[in-house]
Amino acid sequence: ASAPQASPPQMGFNNWNSTHCRDEFNETMIRGIADKFISLGLRDAGYRYVNIDDCWANWQRDQNGKLEPNPKRFPSGIKALADYIHQHGLKFGLYSSAGTSTCEPLQENRGFPGGLGHEKQDAATIASWGVDYLKYDNCNNQKVDALKRYTAMAEALRATNRPIFFSVCEWGENKPWTWAGKPPVDAGSWRTTGDISDSYASMLKNFKQNVVLDQYATPGHYNDPDMLEVGNGGMTDVEYRSHFSLWSIMAAPLLIGTDLRTIKPDALKILLNKDVIAVDQDPLGVQGKQVRDADGIHVIVKPLKDGSSAVAVFNESDTPRDVTVSASEIGLKSASSYSLRDLWAHTQTKGDGSLKLHLQAHETAMYRINRR
Ligand code: DGJ
Repeated sequence: ASAPQASPPQMGFNNWNSTHCRDEFNETMIRGIADKFISLGLRDAGYRYVNIDDCWANWQRDQNGKLEPNPKRFPSGIKALADYIHQHGLKFGLYSSAGTSTCEPLQENRGFPGGLGHEKQDAATIASWGVDYLKYDNCNNQKVDALKRYTAMAEALRATNRPIFFSVCEWGENKPWTWAGKPPVDAGSWRTTGDISDSYASMLKNFKQNVVLDQYATPGHYNDPDMLEVGNGGMTDVEYRSHFSLWSIMAAPLLIGTDLRTIKPDALKILLNKDVIAVDQDPLGVQGKQVRDADGIHVIVKPLKDGSSAVAVFNESDTPRDVTVSASEIGLKSASSYSLRDLWAHTQTKGDGSLKLHLQAHETAMYRINRR
């Protein structure tokens, strides 16, 4: 029998980029999101996790030290929400912090309980609720060594015997790409950057920090440049297509961060681009490598399982540009001919010699290239 295949990067939804801690973040919203996964075709496109972020918890643990949900936001409890999500053929993710309290609210002395020192009890609690995924943040860490903090929770999760995806959210402070993907932490992904916001500048910054870390990603263990902002309104559709293309060529987690109950058709179309998703989810599990970063033009190449490769050409600059990419630059013998699939236009052409592109400001062209 062949070895089990490593998991591709996780796909799903997380409420944070859309709601932060506003009151609209509650069980009615999250159930509505699960419904939309089905009706909008997101589950069919591969999105699986419905995850909730900070501010789900009650202010205090109960008299036995057990975590409880905020009764206003989640009056039916977390187990009921997980059941609802599972009934949709989806998985459910929860959030905590490897500190004495989570990040919100920002005022002193009034935080939600964090996992530091409570790892075994909290892991047992979330396993009993049917949680499939834990995002573990870095706030209020009391300067305890990061490897120690994330190891404690990773081991507690494994001890539950329930498979729970572990997402390290340490913001790249202690170079998590050097330790988080390996035992004893063995996380599925680790954040490499600070928080994204819904602007081109922020997306660009996180891209640049993450793209140079390709050598640290291994199948099943991925760099995480933070969640998607597609649909939130702060970027143009050209920029959102770049955001989605760049995250996919980097084999990044694809976690939707917009309210799917009100998403506009153009944004939905980006999130449902199956050609681009297939690059992110390719079973080889390799992060694309940047082969050019010059004069505002980035060229990234990602090898794919079927022997083909994906190429993204990104014009970072604020003006339109003509770009030539030679066959040898992207690893093809210049003499050989190849077929080229444009992953945004969904057209197939014959290629030979070189790619000649005209890119708008902030635009990314993306291709899948097969030797013929
Ligand atoms: C910081 C994290 O990086 C964000 O993704 C989010 O989880 C917030 N904390 C929540 O407080």
